[in-house]
Amino acid sequence: MTEHETILVERPADRVALIRLNRPKALNALNLRVMAELTEAATALDRDPSVGAIVITGSDRTFAAGADIKEMKDQSFDEVLAADWFAGWDALARVRTPLVAAVAGYALGGGCELAMMCDILVAADTASFGQPEITLGVLPGMGGSQRLTRAIGKAKAMDLCLTGRRIDAHEAERCGLVSRVVPADTLLDEALEIARTVAGMATPAAILAKEAVNRAFETTLSEGILFERRVFHATFATREQKEGMAAFVEKRPARFHD
Ligand code: HXC
Repeated sequence: MTEHETILVERPADRVALIRLNRPKALNALNLRVMAELTEAATALDRDPSVGAIVITGSDRTFAAGADIKEMKDQSFDEVLAADWFAGWDALARVRTPLVAAVAGYALGGGCELAMMCDILVAADTASFGQPEITLGVLPGMGGSQRLTRAIGKAKAMDLCLTGRRIDAHEAERCGLVSRVVPADTLLDEALEIARTVAGMATPAAILAKEAVNRAFETTLSEGILFERRVFHATFATREQKEGMAAFVEKRPARFHD
């Protein structure tokens, strides 16, 4: 595996990969190097057929405290436009392997936006989320105004984006930003267990289910339902559909990854 400066990549379990953000002195602030390394690592893992799910996490204290303010502060409009700052994160949204975000501590600004690029968001009870960009004279720039609004609705998204206030893990769960809240000392184990479960499923079904859920954000209900029905039909061309349904009838566990 490639050596990285700002992330650690591990394979903690069969079919599961773990990417840890690793800039502790800067509270895992997301500079351009992190963007390059994380998207490159996730893309490489996405191409690896032995990986069925990827967990992205930070430290106990911080998931990520946002884009790197020190790196950004003296940039001009011409520079950020020419370099299309943050467009590189789109590569993470193109990863087809299910992504599990395991969030403890701060997930602010770009940190919250990174968590929202993942498919299943698990929060420690120490987690806090927010889009404080407004306090810096800017606004979310990695998809926050769009993904947050779709995730939690206009009322809460406006509240967070216009006041910059933080919400704790329980409020985040209540408003649908995170799927589970767990005790901080079990966060990584819980996230890895979720990843193991997902990675054990039929790979084509997992890829297509992720695409179908994401399609709900991109299209009309009737188009989305047609897309879902057609990809459901397509699963009948897979070995995994035959195995999964035969296993049910034969009252045995399905063998998707022998
Ligand atoms: C660069 C950061 C940073 C950041 C923290 N640090 N957040 N460096 N970019 N986003 C650095 C601090 O400068 C400090 O470095 C060290 O990490 C520890 O931070 P402290 O502030 O001393 O820690 P603490 O008092 O515990 O406060 C934690 C915190 C606070 C509440 C998370 O750091 C904070 O408010 N950070 C900024 C959060 C934020 O505004 N994020 C949005 C960024 S903009 P030194 O060298 O002093 O020890 C963004 C935009 C996306 O994400 C798209 C925009 C276009």
